[in-house]
Amino acid sequence: MTMSSPLPAARTVESLRVAVAAWKSAGQRVAMVPTMGALHEGHLSLVRLARQNADRVVASVFVNPTQFAPNEDFDAYPRDEARDAALLGSAGCDLLYAPAVAEMYATGFATTVTVTGVSEPLDGQARPHHFAGVATVVTKLLNQCAPDVAIFGEKDYQQLQVIRRLVADLDLPVRIIGAPTARAADGLALSSRNAYLSDAERVVAGKLNVILDNAATALSAGDAVGPVEAHGVAALKAAGFDKIDYLEARAADDLSRLGPGPIDRPARVLVAAWLGKTRLIDNMAV
Ligand code: PAJ
Repeated sequence: MTMSSPLPAARTVESLRVAVAAWKSAGQRVAMVPTMGALHEGHLSLVRLARQNADRVVASVFVNPTQFAPNEDFDAYPRDEARDAALLGSAGCDLLYAPAVAEMYATGFATTVTVTGVSEPLDGQARPHHFAGVATVVTKLLNQCAPDVAIFGEKDYQQLQVIRRLVADLDLPVRIIGAPTARAADGLALSSRNAYLSDAERVVAGKLNVILDNAATALSAGDAVGPVEAHGVAALKAAGFDKIDYLEARAADDLSRLGPGPIDRPARVLVAAWLGKTRLIDNMAV
């Protein structure tokens, strides 16, 4: 006996639109939660928040090839649709949207959405083309589903700000909601990529959020940006991180650079660091 998926699944743009149109014509509000699957409690907290903001919730599971560089983990990215569907169903999702790559990117596909400014520093430096891939697929997902609201996690803070920018700039009729970061007991931000960590690496990983929190606290207390960043990088090295892409305080809205002195506007500290082959990111409000 095979277990059937507990959740209806749409695999084409057409079938997604038919389902969403039926809900809308019944006067129901629709929320979308885009994901790449390998779901964890962080994703499910987004689904629950979506539930609170709409009558119907669509979650997409699509491992988007255009946001991975050739040397990155597109092939290795964990995929388990049956598990994802069961988790989504239990969190209150109404429909799984899981298109094939060929449905998303038909032969001849030639359009890219590029967001300048906010997508350029930090991960934009460390992962060239990544945010163009994200911006393009998110624009497509939002156009395909046409939700009233869409939920994205603050875990990927720069991604959230890139999406806010493109939605405003392209006049997409959707409200974007940022959701707080779900964390493990030791504070490590939940991530599908945490599954790559060895036991020893997992212990070190738990120090990332502590170092970030220390930096945010020091900045809130009026310490200068330059020394706080330098101290944070040194603490990451001492903790055992292999390579540090960045630990920086930035303006909270457009992620522009701050002066070297004490912060004078709402700020965010963001970090990306490696443990072996695993790249971890996290961020906190100041
Ligand atoms: P993915 O990494 O699967 O994340 C899907 C959504 O879950 C994103 O909005 C992300 O910020 C959020 N998320 C991940 N970990 C979280 C945590 N610990 N707490 C709260 N939210 C968390 O981000 C992507 O996929 C893709 O880039 C996507 C937007 C789907 C475009 O392909």
